[in-house]
Amino acid sequence: MVRIDEIESDVFRLSIFSTESGFQYNAFLVRDEEPLLYHTGPKSLFSQFSQAVASLIDLKQLRWISYSHFESDECGALNEWLTIAPQAEAVTGIVGAAVNGDFAIRPIRSLQDNEVFSTGKKRFRYLRTPHLPHGWDAGLLFEETDRTLFTSDLFHQNGDVEPLTENSLIDRFKEVLQNSQGPFSNYIPYTLHTEQMLRKLADLNPKTLAVMHGSSYKGDGKSAIEELIKVMQQM
Ligand SMILES: [Fe+2]
Ligand SMILES: [Fe+2]
Repeated sequence: MVRIDEIESDVFRLSIFSTESGFQYNAFLVRDEEPLLYHTGPKSLFSQFSQAVASLIDLKQLRWISYSHFESDECGALNEWLTIAPQAEAVTGIVGAAVNGDFAIRPIRSLQDNEVFSTGKKRFRYLRTPHLPHGWDAGLLFEETDRTLFTSDLFHQNGDVEPLTENSLIDRFKEVLQNSQGPFSNYIPYTLHTEQMLRKLADLNPKTLAVMHGSSYKGDGKSAIEELIKVMQQM
């Protein structure tokens, strides 16, 4: 079952809790003149996610499908979405489009670091963040008009948690990282460039963090990311 919550005006969080994984898979639908889906979900969840999106927009109107990095939950169902939505175009960073574009059934639009594109009333900035959360191709989207940062796997939390909270996510994120024996050991690498990239994200002053696994956060996004830096440095 997909739970749908509007976490920011016309930004819908679509969430499926997996008992097998013990955490949620969240996709985000931005309803605008040119609707945008962030994260496709894996193929196994396509039918549930597509029905949820169809309850919000006409699937034939879906214009953009974006994702942070090449992984099943982020973009595994891309071709299913491209098939069901003939006007849709995938959009991701220049590395992702060049290195992994071959798997998509239609060309992928590539974005440079800091490139901005509009979907109507919303405006998205692409931030290249190699190896953050992971993968050479990784990047994040920031919606500038409402200051929403789509964080992908950053701030991952386990459990079937609330859609949106004003409480700090950091303790829950720590739990995921600290489980160093499990599959999430070395989940998010900390490189020489990580702090600088996170500071750049903090300086965007996000008001909402749209998190892929777990609750989204509303509040002082800058402080939340600064806390994240400290936690990641200690891991
Ligand atoms: Fe990931
Ligand atoms: Fe993910």
